[in-house]
Amino acid sequence: MNIVVVGTGYVGLVTGVALAHVGHRVTCVDVDEEKVNRMRQGISPIYEPGIEQFMKENMEANRLFFTTDGASAYREADVIYIAVGTPENEDGSANLTYIDQAVKHIASSVMKDVIVVTKSTVPVGTNHEMQRMFQQLAPHVRIDVVSNPEFLREGSALYDTFHGDRIVIGADDERAAAVVADIHRPFGIPIFQTDIRSAEMIKYASNAFLATKISFINEIANICEKVGADIEQVAAGMGMDERIGSSFLRAGIGYGGSCFPKDTKALAKIAANIDHDFELLKAVIEVNNKQQRKLIEKAKKRFGHIQGKKIALLGLSFKPNTDDMREAASLVIARELVAEQAIVVAYDPIAMNKARAVLPKEVIYASHVEEALKDADAAMILTEWDEFRQLDLSVYVKQMKTPIIFDGRNCYALEDVKKYAIEYYSIGRRAIK
Ligand code: UDX
Repeated sequence: MNIVVVGTGYVGLVTGVALAHVGHRVTCVDVDEEKVNRMRQGISPIYEPGIEQFMKENMEANRLFFTTDGASAYREADVIYIAVGTPENEDGSANLTYIDQAVKHIASSVMKDVIVVTKSTVPVGTNHEMQRMFQQLAPHVRIDVVSNPEFLREGSALYDTFHGDRIVIGADDERAAAVVADIHRPFGIPIFQTDIRSAEMIKYASNAFLATKISFINEIANICEKVGADIEQVAAGMGMDERIGSSFLRAGIGYGGSCFPKDTKALAKIAANIDHDFELLKAVIEVNNKQQRKLIEKAKKRFGHIQGKKIALLGLSFKPNTDDMREAASLVIARELVAEQAIVVAYDPIAMNKARAVLPKEVIYASHVEEALKDADAAMILTEWDEFRQLDLSVYVKQMKTPIIFDGRNCYALEDVKKYAIEYYSIGRRAIK
């Protein structure tokens, strides 16, 4: 099988590398020449544990190639995976410009029948629209469009590719579905075959459901704080019910990242376009927006005003094991702290470079935890990096002016904190004063 993957962002690169790893010949296409040159040297444009090793191995085995020459790659291809971005428009809808460009380029290049597999997250009906465009723009060949949404998590994308729960294949044409199923068979993951529109919907519905779980547990956490219950206990007790499940019940300062915020808004927009008011999903989004500000509220309540206070931000990326800053709670928090004229000192194990480009210019960066905490009036934990979870709590006492922690990710057990002279405010648990 000669496979081409268009787009070498998260989804495209991981897909390309994984397909090569199970034995396919894969060419990854990207318009960015510098990025392609770096990938040829085995340098990954994304931070993903293990990916560079996989890239090198498969390039050496002559199964994985990178090019900017899309036209030549498409001409040789049996199957083309489209994994370009579908960023958010201002109104929350998905921007399909890159999909449109890829379709036109493929249509003008191919000279034999080919299957086009859509990995990108696209609104329901997009794959049919792509099919229609192919028929119009490339009537000389047969192009079958197949929807194959991905469910990768950043930071564990390779693991997820080899250990996912299901592979969803949505197709109108049985033969095309069978070809794509065969390509994925070596992963040994259950394949769920369905129609195109349902496959498109599975992706949005799955992400919206997970986001709902998070907003739900965060609201329960907010109530726990008021009624004296402990969210960690509540979530553990709930999660033991198999109908509920224990995953995605971690209370905190909300979800961020490249998928949940974008896809929940896009689904709400899809609903609005057909005059369906998706009230539940709108509430999920609203709860998340409020939750991202939770530590600011707590700090204001504690200090009265935070002007002039030195606040250490620990963790900037939207979750651990990634340098991705997209929709991270740290953006909202740093902006508001700066607006309130607090002195903000930030530290993240790997996201500092990306953070510099998007956080307010007033933010000061520390090169390690101790430096960030030095003489601080308060610390805010925004990302649950192992480095913070495993930190000796005496460091807070030694370094800070006043050891007050606002923990947005419940990194520490209350019993451990109690052993130190630390004031501790977390999510959905009683405060330690
Ligand atoms: C998510 C989906 O999990 C994945 O299937 C989809 O393909 C892309 O979007 P990702 O954004 O990489 O993956 O991260 P994930 O681990 O799902 O976390 C998303 C956000 O939710 C993070 O900000 C995380 O901190 C938050 N989260 C997650 C919680 O607040 N509580 C939880 O219990 C789980």
